[in-house]
Amino acid sequence: MKPGIRAFGEADLSACLALFDANCPRFFAPNERAEFIGYLRAHAGEYRLCERDGRVVAAFGVALHGARARLNWIMVDPAAQGSGAGGAMIAATMAAARAGGAHMIDIAASHLSEPFFARHGARSRGRIADGWGPGMHRVDMELSLD
Ligand SMILES: CC(C)(COP(=O)(O)OP(=O)(O)OC[C@H]1O[C@@H](n2cnc3c(N)ncnc32)[C@H](O)[C@@H]1OP(=O)(O)O)[C@@H](O)C(=O)NCCC(=O)NCCS
Repeated sequence: MKPGIRAFGEADLSACLALFDANCPRFFAPNERAEFIGYLRAHAGEYRLCERDGRVVAAFGVALHGARARLNWIMVDPAAQGSGAGGAMIAATMAAARAGGAHMIDIAASHLSEPFFARHGARSRGRIADGWGPGMHRVDMELSLD
């Protein structure tokens, strides 16, 4: 893992929920909080944290499924957004996916985060109005590693 990125541990749950809460309801629908907790319980081993000055400022998960990988629950503390953490996580995700033998990364984005992933080369494959909750539209994207 890159410097500043480390594995999630059980003691990090509250820091991750703080990241979620700081991005809710602007970027995450309130009903997604329970899903996020369920994800962290079920997939703790794939979640990673970004630290700056000993503080958790961002987090993301990379699931490896053979030829396709999936980027899960990427989020940056609003105070740190726009300072490169998101780009660093995309780079780390691409490296982990490549190392795991993947050729494609699936990303379930929102209409608000879609432009960010598009800047990194991801293509939109479909969208579901209100897919994440009222007013929060789901955009399924894929990022080719070839
Ligand atoms: C989307 C997100 C992960 C990006 O992380 P970030 O640390 O802000 O991104 P970076 O600082 O690496 O930004 C890189 C570039 O993308 C741009 N950018 C960031 N978020 C963007 C967005 N939502 N739409 C368009 N551009 C965006 C930045 O302005 C920056 O541009 P620049 O290089 O010209 O200065 C972060 O803003 C975030 O956590 N958003 C809320 C949670 C969320 O929506 N997560 C995705 C769930 S699917």
